[in-house]
Amino acid sequence: MPGSSIRFVLDGDIIEVDDVDPTRTVLQFLREDLRRKGTKEGCAEGDCGACTVVVAEVNRDGDDLSLRAINSCIQFLPTIDGKELITVESLAPAGSQLHPVQRAMVQKHGSQCGFCTPGFVMSLFALYKTNASPSRREIDDALAGNLCRCTGYRPIIAAAQAMYEQGDDEDRSDWLQQPCGAQQKPDGRIAKLLSLMSTEGLDVEHAGRRFYAPLDIDSFATLYVRNPDATILAGGTDVGLWVTKQHRELEKVIYTGRVAELAELSVSSTHIEVGAAVTLSDAMPVIVDHYPGLDELFRRFASPPIRNAGTLGGNIANGSPIGDTMPALMVVGASLVLRCGDATRELPLDEFYHDYQVNDLAPGEFLVRVRIPVAEREAIVGSQKWSKRFDQDISAVCTAYRLVLDGEKVGSFRMACGGLAAVIKRAAHCEAALDGQPWNEKSIEQACRALQEDFTPISDMRASADIRLRAVQNLLRRFFHETKGNVDSTLYTYGRQR
Ligand SMILES: Cc1cc2nc3c(=O)[nH]c(=O)nc-3n(C[C@H](O)[C@H](O)[C@H](O)COP(=O)(O)OP(=O)(O)OC[C@H]3O[C@@H](n4cnc5c(N)ncnc54)[C@H](O)[C@@H]3O)c2cc1C
Ligand code: FES
Ligand code: FES
Repeated sequence: MPGSSIRFVLDGDIIEVDDVDPTRTVLQFLREDLRRKGTKEGCAEGDCGACTVVVAEVNRDGDDLSLRAINSCIQFLPTIDGKELITVESLAPAGSQLHPVQRAMVQKHGSQCGFCTPGFVMSLFALYKTNASPSRREIDDALAGNLCRCTGYRPIIAAAQAMYEQGDDEDRSDWLQQPCGAQQKPDGRIAKLLSLMSTEGLDVEHAGRRFYAPLDIDSFATLYVRNPDATILAGGTDVGLWVTKQHRELEKVIYTGRVAELAELSVSSTHIEVGAAVTLSDAMPVIVDHYPGLDELFRRFASPPIRNAGTLGGNIANGSPIGDTMPALMVVGASLVLRCGDATRELPLDEFYHDYQVNDLAPGEFLVRVRIPVAEREAIVGSQKWSKRFDQDISAVCTAYRLVLDGEKVGSFRMACGGLAAVIKRAAHCEAALDGQPWNEKSIEQACRALQEDFTPISDMRASADIRLRAVQNLLRRFFHETKGNVDSTLYTYGRQR
């Protein structure tokens, strides 16, 4: 029988929760049920970082812990079953001295009104534990999901640089106080978390609502075929907002996060295979290893807490026209492995979307994994995200390209665009206009004209239709100049360090 209560570790104690609404967020539970109010609510949609907490999880071999910052405001409570929750209160229990991260924030004047501070502290704590000597870029990246409206970022960045100098006189018997790389393993914590591991999964019911967390893919497939009206939940960075912002009531939820087969990430001589429950934080470095041209795109995808929870599979299945990963995955020829009951099929990603948020999934069918061909040496692959902010912003448009040159001519060219129209798709006319042509400015201008036939641009608060089309044409021109080595890279990075 699957377990019906949610169990997790908090400050060394096992917390067991029965009879709770399965879409209650971790933040609501902390603040309203436990009256633990250090963790704040700013936006309730994953944007501001005030609600940041850290989750520790035992790895698949059961011999080490991973620590990750997440946004508690959009994380449903059952998803932390079997994990350890670390909040700002955990860092300096009453009567103990401040954690090195907190002391550095005090010393560097990193807080004024203090509303954002617990969130910053938790993002910095995750950095402190996972990176013993971060570069300025790594500090910027770690803080990309935290907004401060009164202190300003300079003192907070100074605190991030100073936090490693605080720890020498610490009582290091507690692993929370140890910097990353410390030799002592947090064995006691692992043992406690392993004791929470159920072999039966989870089935939480409250007031007629159900939350299922099966452990294997056959059970998942059977459950979903029997309940095709259920909502599949992966990282919840889209689904969470349906509840917190749209106030939707999800009657049945089936969670991918405990299914071993969906968590697999592997690389063969031909493909990178990314299971549907693999987080963006785990998938992206592997993809960038093969496609360095996608580094900036992934760096600018949301923020670390969103990437730590969100999945590549969720981005694709959600199918938003402004989803960032799909243009790049389309141009490199990714395909999707889909399953319904016992039947499995494979579909090219560029055939998956039919219309605005209408995809090829049948009732009861779900995404198992994404298959991404490994990079061919001769292909140049790049992607550009155009948005108002560098960090944590939604694309106005997002483009991706794959170019193979045959001498001075185009051997093969693929381009896909997001944000331009109701669905993300390849730019067929533009691709045809460049096929076999000289790779020069004249051909690029022809391709820019052809782009008008590929898309019916949309207008919204991010950009008008006209601006969107012009932006994509300019981004194509820019890609051309990048391949020629003509581009000042600091312009495109909004002045930020690469
Ligand atoms: C603050 C913030 C910033 C963001 N920034 C970006 C950004 O920069 N770029 C961007 O592209 N997106 C962004 N997003 C959107 C979101 O983070 C991504 O779409 C993410 O990849 C969703 O993954 P998830 O695992 O959280 O999906 P979930 O929210 O769990 O699910 C999303 C959808 O996919 C379905 N689904 C999930 N797994 C499966 C499966 N295996 N089979 C079938 N259906 C499935 C769900 O039912 C749901 O319809 C942002 C979101 C937030 C809150
Ligand atoms: S409250 Fe703003 S990110 Fe959670
Ligand atoms: S200290 Fe006031 S918002 Fe950051």
